[in-house]
Amino acid sequence: MSGDVSATAPGWQGQGDRALLTGFGNHHASEAVEGALPVGRNSPQRVAYGLYAEQISGTAFTAPRHENRRSWLYRMRPAASHPPFTPFAGGTLIAAGPLADEPVSPNRLRWDPLALPTGGTTDFIDGLITYATNGDAAIGQGLTIHLYAADRSMMDRAFVSADGELLFVPQQGAVRLVTEMGVLDVEPLQIAIVPRGVRFRVELPAGSVRGYLCENHGALLRLPELGPIGSNGLANARDFEVPHAGFEDVDRPCTIVQKFMGRLHATTIDHSPFDVVAWHGNLAPVRYDLRRFNAINTVSFDHPDPSIFTVLTSPSDTAGVANLDFVIFPPRWMVAEDTFRPPWFHRNVMSEFMGLIAGEYDAKAGGFVPGGASLHNAMSGHGPDVASYEAAIRADLRPHRMADTMAFMFESRYVLRPTRWAMNTPLLQAGYDACWDGFRKAQLPMTEGTAR
Ligand SMILES: [Fe+2]
Repeated sequence: MSGDVSATAPGWQGQGDRALLTGFGNHHASEAVEGALPVGRNSPQRVAYGLYAEQISGTAFTAPRHENRRSWLYRMRPAASHPPFTPFAGGTLIAAGPLADEPVSPNRLRWDPLALPTGGTTDFIDGLITYATNGDAAIGQGLTIHLYAADRSMMDRAFVSADGELLFVPQQGAVRLVTEMGVLDVEPLQIAIVPRGVRFRVELPAGSVRGYLCENHGALLRLPELGPIGSNGLANARDFEVPHAGFEDVDRPCTIVQKFMGRLHATTIDHSPFDVVAWHGNLAPVRYDLRRFNAINTVSFDHPDPSIFTVLTSPSDTAGVANLDFVIFPPRWMVAEDTFRPPWFHRNVMSEFMGLIAGEYDAKAGGFVPGGASLHNAMSGHGPDVASYEAAIRADLRPHRMADTMAFMFESRYVLRPTRWAMNTPLLQAGYDACWDGFRKAQLPMTEGTAR
């Protein structure tokens, strides 16, 4: 896959058709112009070509070495050079706010997919809608879940979140992420992370797009521990891809839309913010292909806990209790003997937001479709619907390959508060609970009424 989809954006200088850099959290060095990157130091008295040296910190300076993430950028003008931000009038559905003065619904919620916009006037910022949030970006906990649907590339504007790193999960259509640190093309069944504070624009090289976006306010996403699985498996570090440095030398106004404390603010500069000619460090945009996930599952009996499908995790300050787990349900063989093979009935102290990228999910016979979403907050009973249950207890348990499927979950220790929009949109399915109606009562050997 390396270089094949890392196409260069129009006007972009530097990346060419070179293979992407690889590894998760690795230290990389990349320059789009030879000699731009200082050698043996970060901040020489005069940087080559009059470039400005600028550090971006993804962790505190004093974070332990194995957690410390930062990069040095060498750019044509410093990011600090901009007029004051003012409230941004667009993006009105971003962080529309939880129902602050109303109780959070304890009900299981499920949404139909967003309609794709038409008319070619909706870019990524216009098409972002916040569904749910928890924690607080101001204190570095929790996450915010958005969905997007757009049909126009961002033109002369850039987006940046000061509230968290952004995990892109495209569902329909490829997005081209033109970032300060390089370009990544990301198609459905791939994911990408844009670090907190890194400016980017979203281009749509193949038309309309739709997808999910998780904004992580907590500790940076990282690969989960593997425990007894060993030193390989799940998402392997070498499969994460990082762009080469690239830039555009464009002196044309660009509006920077910055999300800060849940609200959007804008400022306009007289040049492209994508003027980073070289960079080095271990904080960078990254892409991963979910088809490379090495799924681990039982070869004996029982459906293991879904944590075996964790791609990335953001830990909290309690061991093993995640601020955010990104979990997928990929194509896989089902071979368990004498086992109810779909996901079991469940009540979870963690809160589960699910989406479907492609195909079908094995716990639902209908209603949960690609582009849709569901939310099962803490201790909400969930699991297979009646049809899926009845089919599973009668299934012939020969080895079976689940081929056409890719569901995912954003799972958090903190209760997710749906936004006012999410609770009032007609996309919210009124009859979701009915999928658990009609389970037959178990038949005990004693006759009814004999128990005392
Ligand atoms: Fe669950």
